[in-house]
Amino acid sequence: MTDRTVKVLFVCLGNICRSPMAEAVFRERINSDGLENRVEVTSCGTGDWHVGSPPHEGTRRILDEKRISYKGQRAKQLKANENTAYDYIVAMDRQNVADLVDAGVPQERINLLSDFISDKRGLEVPDPYYHNNFEEVYDLISEGSEGLLQDILARYPERE
Ligand code: 4NP
Repeated sequence: MTDRTVKVLFVCLGNICRSPMAEAVFRERINSDGLENRVEVTSCGTGDWHVGSPPHEGTRRILDEKRISYKGQRAKQLKANENTAYDYIVAMDRQNVADLVDAGVPQERINLLSDFISDKRGLEVPDPYYHNNFEEVYDLISEGSEGLLQDILARYPERE
């Protein structure tokens, strides 16, 4: 039970491919269930190379195809106090987890996105920046978003 919004942060390396896609897909899922007042979502990268950039062309293409908005999304870098500001810190791969731990986020505060997909626990979301597999990444992110939402609804039931 909570009287405040549940806050979710998706994390990848550059914040132009995977985590902005997760942010857009998860926000769309939340909005379609009318949960926008209960759940907040954002994303960041552990690296700073693309700060200020819109999502990668491959991410934009698939989001356009699926009619999912990414309006206003610009790449951001992880900030120092992330572990206290969010209820869920959701990394795409183990390198992201290691980088988060190096940045001071306690390991037990971090999930992999695949933790929320019952038959894919431990799987990493591959980096489409190198593999150009945006479709595969989208499918994993969709599944992970659904599982994450179910986890949130179970852990933070609506106040009567
Ligand atoms: P992302 O992909 O972490 O999914 O946003 C990458 C984007 C940029 C770079 C690496 C990965 N880069 O090296 O610039």
